[in-house]
Amino acid sequence: MFFSLLGLSSALLCKADLNLAEDNSFHISVFSDLHYGENESSFGIPADMNSAALMRQVLSQEQPDFVVLNGDLITGENTFAFNSTGYVDEIVAPLVEGGYNWASTYGNHDSKYNLSREALYTEEKKYSNAYTQHGPAGTDGVTNYVLPVFPTNTTGSTQTPVALLWFFDSRGGSEYQSLPANVDNIDNYVSNGTVAWYRSTQADLQSQYGTLPSLAFVHIPTLAFVDLQTQTSPNVSGPNYPGLNADVPLAQQGYSDTGSEAIPFMQALLDTPGLHSMYSGHDHGDSWCGRWPNSTLPGYGIGGGSSQNRPFLCFCKHSGYGGYGVWNRGVRQVRMSFDQNGVMSVDTWVRMQAGTIITAVSLNETYGEDIYSTADGQ
Ligand SMILES: *[C@@H]1O[C@H](CO)[C@@H](O)[C@H](O)[C@H]1NC(C)=O
Ligand SMILES: *[C@@H]1O[C@H](CO)[C@@H](O)[C@H](O)[C@H]1NC(C)=O
Ligand SMILES: *[C@@H]1O[C@H](CO)[C@@H](O)[C@H](O)[C@H]1NC(C)=O
Ligand SMILES: *[C@@H]1O[C@H](CO)[C@@H](O)[C@H](O)[C@H]1NC(C)=O
Ligand SMILES: *[C@@H]1O[C@H](CO)[C@@H](O)[C@H](O)[C@H]1NC(C)=O
Ligand SMILES: *[C@@H]1O[C@H](CO)[C@@H](O)[C@H](O)[C@H]1NC(C)=O
Ligand SMILES: *[C@@H]1O[C@H](CO)[C@@H](O)[C@H](O)[C@H]1NC(C)=O
Ligand SMILES: *[C@@H]1O[C@H](CO)[C@@H](O)[C@H](O)[C@H]1NC(C)=O
Repeated sequence: MFFSLLGLSSALLCKADLNLAEDNSFHISVFSDLHYGENESSFGIPADMNSAALMRQVLSQEQPDFVVLNGDLITGENTFAFNSTGYVDEIVAPLVEGGYNWASTYGNHDSKYNLSREALYTEEKKYSNAYTQHGPAGTDGVTNYVLPVFPTNTTGSTQTPVALLWFFDSRGGSEYQSLPANVDNIDNYVSNGTVAWYRSTQADLQSQYGTLPSLAFVHIPTLAFVDLQTQTSPNVSGPNYPGLNADVPLAQQGYSDTGSEAIPFMQALLDTPGLHSMYSGHDHGDSWCGRWPNSTLPGYGIGGGSSQNRPFLCFCKHSGYGGYGVWNRGVRQVRMSFDQNGVMSVDTWVRMQAGTIITAVSLNETYGEDIYSTADGQ
């Protein structure tokens, strides 16, 4: 075994555990693609003010148990080397004020000439509310880690978690202070080294606790999302898979149309018992949830098969006023609920800044057959 469970135990040593609420549920608000720090001579300043207002509004309405910042926190190509990480303080201010704990994944815009994700991490870790962790040697990028969720009111490592939250770094962007500036030269997929850590850590946890249900967060979607988007019947954005589908074709991990670089990661996900769903941003115009395709389209390399684990795949609604696209902003909400036998069910919806709730669905066995309103918030 190359990787220890250091990540899990240090999470337990340094922090209060993540616990289910009184009603055995755990509600996560996912702020994706906040894109703070756009050009201040154009739309940067109002964009950040609007994003902060959205965060405060949605937090007060949803009052989640936990927050995930799912990548592209900052648009690093417009920030200054001497104060880039100052945007972290702006981003987390509404969370700190409200007493919310959070965990981050980093995106392709979080590594640029004047912004390093290592510095971003160091800045985040100044806050005791930050549950973000740094992956061990052998992983690539920063945000590769797992957080256990424990039963209501329990503390400490003697307890068995009820669920796991996995976070992956899909990398991308540019080397810090490397000329020519802001040429995207970092691989944009979860690396083989990270996959090895994931397989090893997952196997250790499996042998210690048995199969635990889990959720995964990664900024750039895998090619399985493309496969799903290409599917015509039932199609994404229709009543079976409600949500906006305005980024067509979506941009995925890996370079070629076949995204083959990310196949080891996708295979590891499919090999994980209990992996319920995965949440991605990056494509600001997409906000549907689907299910890992059960067949393999030509060229796409990998399919879930009909009887295997087929995790649900969800786009987060883009939350930030920075970054491309002017679709309305909203925030994906995910609520895990546990029955008396510890069986997990997951509901998800998007809270729009205007207060409305759209695309409220149950990610259950009949998702994909159930009919929902196609209102997508635009
Ligand atoms: C920032 O915006 C101003 C005003 O639109 C423009 O002149 C300038 O070139 C932009 N700077 C960068 C780095 O894009
Ligand atoms: C990087 O930041 C410095 C100031 O710290 C600024 O002078 C420079 O223009 C920035 N470079 C790029 C490529 O954004
Ligand atoms: C960084 O410094 C620039 C130039 O002084 C300023 O316009 C910008 O608001 C600063 N950003 C942060 C996050 O402090
Ligand atoms: C959890 O702790 C709170 C506060 O101490 C208490 O009111 C509640 O009854 C406890 N709930 C359970 C399920 O133990
Ligand atoms: C990652 O692993 C796969 C097979 O497991 C291999 O085909 C591929 O070349 C590896 N990628 C790199 C960058 O080493
Ligand atoms: C997808 O489904 C919606 C709703 O049924 C329909 O309006 C739309 O035309 C379909 N799109 C495609 C590409 O089939
Ligand atoms: C794949 O899923 C579709 C829609 O849910 C279903 O109609 C089809 O029979 C499935 N194919 C296989 C091979 O299971
Ligand atoms: C899944 O959830 C939907 C919406 O709540 C519900 O109508 C459907 O019956 C559920 N399916 C199962 C198998 O529980």
